[in-house]
Amino acid sequence: MKTLAIETSCDETAVAILNRDNEVIASEIATQIDLHRVYGGVVPEVASRNHLIKMRPVLLKALDTASCGLADIDVFAATAGPGLAGALLIGNTTAKALALAEGKPFIGVNHLEGHLLSPFMESAEGIQPAVALVVSGGHTMLIHLRSFGHYKLCGKTRDDAAGEAFDKVAKMIGLPYPGGPEIDKLASGGDRRCYDFPRSMLHSAEHDFSFSGLKTAVLYTLDKVDQSIEDVRPDLCASFQEAVIDVLASKSIRLTKQLNESRLAVSGGVSCNRRLREVFTERCAAEGLELLIAPPALSTDNAAMIAYVASQKYMLGESTPFEDDVHPNLPLMGVANKGR
Ligand code: KG4
Ligand code: ZN
Repeated sequence: MKTLAIETSCDETAVAILNRDNEVIASEIATQIDLHRVYGGVVPEVASRNHLIKMRPVLLKALDTASCGLADIDVFAATAGPGLAGALLIGNTTAKALALAEGKPFIGVNHLEGHLLSPFMESAEGIQPAVALVVSGGHTMLIHLRSFGHYKLCGKTRDDAAGEAFDKVAKMIGLPYPGGPEIDKLASGGDRRCYDFPRSMLHSAEHDFSFSGLKTAVLYTLDKVDQSIEDVRPDLCASFQEAVIDVLASKSIRLTKQLNESRLAVSGGVSCNRRLREVFTERCAAEGLELLIAPPALSTDNAAMIAYVASQKYMLGESTPFEDDVHPNLPLMGVANKGR
């Protein structure tokens, strides 16, 4: 059984192939970051046009890496949402056309479910009950995961997503898009106690987050400092990053303990952050919790996580009608998960 999935929800054109044991036998990604960097963010039409250009070479490279042909694929999948409508349409149309030509089923996958389950892809036990933190450019969510398809949203951001806060602060201090990896790099040479930035909602009984106040605090600090921006950047990055991570770790661990779960699964682009991995590893060990965190290649946008969800759905006999539309604002428990 082989699953081929296409991910085009934003600015990465990605194709992956999984074998019967859900082993990733190909995961190709063509990033468009350089194209969008000049605009300081993703331009939807530029993204769609580039997916069209990159789709064929990325698909052929994935088939070549996996040493298989289209006829060897049992199910074709694509991200159905959330994401940029035009970008999603390119991946969906390609996967549906391939499925039609090969006489195989098509499965539409929720991008958020891909991130959510990515920490389990390399786990021998597969998907297990856990509290899951999804921290990406568009989402910050705390979810109680009971089993495949059974998710309860316990908390989310009330304003900016964690990745969005990283990107906006990076822009403020003159770093290129996407800012998360740039802040990560600079922070390693900075003092994380230099600026005492606010930890919004840290002690609130709710499980929601808020990062817009922190962003404003960085802006006010910038107005006050006398040194050059180059001189203060490392300390600003380290202190800002520490504030975000402190809130994410404290609230995730608190919910895991409240729900009597023993596992915490962390996913999404922000989970690539080196300091985040360090803090979560230390705090989970101190609390006796198992930490599941996908390797960086599976944490940022990729098609392997989409193929993983599609393969779980295929095993349950699910498929998606070819007439199904794309869903730019798809929530985690939206149409791609109805009935489960
Ligand atoms: O999951 P992802 O690749 O795409 C979305 O679905 O949004 O996440 C992208 C986000 C961006 O905001 C990016 O700045 C952030 O993840 N990111 C990081 C790091 N690598 C990526 N944030 C902090 N530290 C990193 N090392
Ligand atoms: Zn994503």
